[in-house]
Amino acid sequence: MNLSEYLSEADTIEREGSTALQSAADADALEAARIAFLGDRQGRVKGLQEALRGISKEDKPAAGKRFNEARTRLEALHAERKSAIERATTSGVQDDPSLPARRQWRGAKHPVTLVIEEIEGIFRELGFTIAQGPEAETEWYNFGALNFPSNHPALDAHDTLYLEGQGLLRTHTSPVQVRTLQKYEPPIRVLIPGNVYRRDFFDASHAPAFAQIEGLCVDEGISFVDLKSTLNRFAERFFGASRTRFRPSFFPFTEPSAEMDVQCGICGGSGCAACKGTGWIEILGSGMVHPNVLEAAGIDSERYTGWAFGMGPARIAISRYGIPDIRVLYDSDVRFLEQIAE
Ligand code: DAH
Repeated sequence: MNLSEYLSEADTIEREGSTALQSAADADALEAARIAFLGDRQGRVKGLQEALRGISKEDKPAAGKRFNEARTRLEALHAERKSAIERATTSGVQDDPSLPARRQWRGAKHPVTLVIEEIEGIFRELGFTIAQGPEAETEWYNFGALNFPSNHPALDAHDTLYLEGQGLLRTHTSPVQVRTLQKYEPPIRVLIPGNVYRRDFFDASHAPAFAQIEGLCVDEGISFVDLKSTLNRFAERFFGASRTRFRPSFFPFTEPSAEMDVQCGICGGSGCAACKGTGWIEILGSGMVHPNVLEAAGIDSERYTGWAFGMGPARIAISRYGIPDIRVLYDSDVRFLEQIAE
């Protein structure tokens, strides 16, 4: 075979191969065309390669170049047709316009965040603004200004995480009451969400770091009636028509102090596992702000009175969503978030 015969044979194979590959209607036809032209044993491209041997030395570079071109082109056409056939085979499903749109996972808010945001919304409607304070606090803001005696057990290093040098991680959001009272003139109505830290073991019902929401209202003529009616309104909005009850309690920074329970939404008050048989769920601590706290913050306690509360949104999330173990709130497992996402 001389060079011109070789080149024309290459043209023919390339032309016929292109037609066969491009017109293959399905995967079987394409495979048959591949074997005929690109097959290792009897493919025509293979034959063209073997024919190179009969080409004279000086013509070999030109013939070899043409051979490579023809082979590369047919291989590319094969790959192209193959993916087109594969696409056509599955597109009957993907392109069905009557199928509902696919919902994509876009993340979800954490249940504790959902609870905090809902509570913020309710208190905003009641005229409260949102305030925040530092998580690294001084002993004075965390305890002293809040009327804790210096020998109170909460100050003990067994319960509180002290920072090196000085200061501590706040054990509650109540110090932000003092910071707010120092900064603003009454009337004050603030809601204070934030994280707090305690030296607790991490078990099914305790965590060493958790969220709290503090509330504070200070003005002239504020009484326990304001505390009760505001918190009852909150409970009505958040828990539905459930009844509430106030039980006498003690906190150094309030006098008198009360704990508020809501009737268990699961059993309706008859007693079940969720409320440990009592029919009630404890949701917050509250009370009239102690005059010593007002005075420590520089507020005239003869002129002004106030009430405050503190609650744990994780506990509320647990009872609302029926979460059996608080540790799942810290696991960052998106499958859990997806179950609760709204
Ligand atoms: N600081 C309290 C705690 O961490 C909760 C609390 C109780 C806050 C009564 C208040 C309150 O503002 O009036 O247990």
